[in-house]
Amino acid sequence: MSEFVKGLEGIVAAQTEMSYINGEKGVLEYVGIPIGELSAHSTFEETVFLLWNRRLPTKGELAEFTGNLRDRYSMPDGIASRVTSVPKTAEPMHVLRTMISALGMHDTDPNANDADNARAKCLNILGQAPAMVAAFDRHRRGLPVIEPDTSLTFAENFLYMLNGEKPTETMARAFDICMILHADHGLNNSTFAARVVISTLSDVYSALTAAVGSLRGPLHGGANEGVMKMLNEVPSVDAVEDHVMGMLKRKDKIMGFGHRVYKAKDPRAKDLQGLAEQLAKDTGNEDLFAKSHAIEKIMEREVAAKGIYPNVDFYSATTYHCIGLQLDLFTPMFALSRLAGWSGHILEQLDGNRLFRPTADYIGPHAVAYTPIEKR
Ligand SMILES: CC(C)(COP(=O)(O)OP(=O)(O)OC[C@H]1O[C@@H](n2cnc3c(N)ncnc32)[C@H](O)[C@@H]1OP(=O)(O)O)[C@@H](O)C(=O)NCCC(=O)NCCS
Repeated sequence: MSEFVKGLEGIVAAQTEMSYINGEKGVLEYVGIPIGELSAHSTFEETVFLLWNRRLPTKGELAEFTGNLRDRYSMPDGIASRVTSVPKTAEPMHVLRTMISALGMHDTDPNANDADNARAKCLNILGQAPAMVAAFDRHRRGLPVIEPDTSLTFAENFLYMLNGEKPTETMARAFDICMILHADHGLNNSTFAARVVISTLSDVYSALTAAVGSLRGPLHGGANEGVMKMLNEVPSVDAVEDHVMGMLKRKDKIMGFGHRVYKAKDPRAKDLQGLAEQLAKDTGNEDLFAKSHAIEKIMEREVAAKGIYPNVDFYSATTYHCIGLQLDLFTPMFALSRLAGWSGHILEQLDGNRLFRPTADYIGPHAVAYTPIEKR
């Protein structure tokens, strides 16, 4: 029997052709293309095509793929009415998880897992998920729901449905870059969850529901909200030193730092840092960026020797805040993008599937005599 490895650290549990990570060197590639190249030149739609087809599209293929995605921007009526009937106090991640699950009930053939059907379901969910989040947010703010605009990109359309007005080019591009950067990341916890569920030949809806549930945890995608809460707690740049040193003394985790795989600065954090700095300047949030930067400097001095560096969540917090998103929408933004990666992994898992069924190392007693209840 092989050795028990807590948290499956370093265990290779799947093969993928989508993203490559070198944690020591801080490298991330999608299908061999460095993430920085994609954030500089690609779009979210093109990146999804790349992940799902393991090659860049031609102009015609991209237009067709984009058109198909836009055709799916609207939720079915049954989902739209559900979104606006949930309690306004619900957390958006709970709403997204529940609505993706509910979507399975509106599919007349939900269990069809052949390659074409599974891909069509993934496209459907990716297309509709932004409307679920935006409609819920407007419902809880007491505002009318905005219908999607199929002339807009994925990023533009989401911000339009959320705010009721088309975003500026800068904001839309910044949001699009965030979507590219979060789209896939090897066998992270939520992706593993999706692959484990689909490996039973369950269905795409169940697998993606599990993935959303995993992502919301504070040790995973929920960390970006934790970063923002911490930034809000620190009143000024001058207060950063005492605040962070106090946390480190108490052995509190600083959200947005550390990673199971990266022992160098997460390459996505490098891109997001630049984006956060620019957006902070544009929106008068220089103080927020300055606080983030000061925290990074202290962490560099105190814990970089342990391989603890900023991860994707650290600067995405400032970025999302500057884009104007409410705190509890940060993790749903991660989910909207990661639906691309989860879906790609589901398709990979279905192609040559083998059921995930690891073993547990039993460490309890053996041959114990049964004690009748009156004698316990
Ligand atoms: C992501 C994370 C769960 C990875 O954890 P891991 O691989 O299990 O690493 P460990 O928790 O075992 O940490 C190893 C050491 O680094 C320290 N460390 C790790 N992350 C830290 C953080 N964010 N702040 C302060 N110290 C940290 C641990 O306290 C531990 O120190 P020790 O050896 O003195 O006990 C962890 O770094 C973390 O909780 N980060 C904050 C949450 C976060 O940003 N998550 C998003 C990931 S993309």
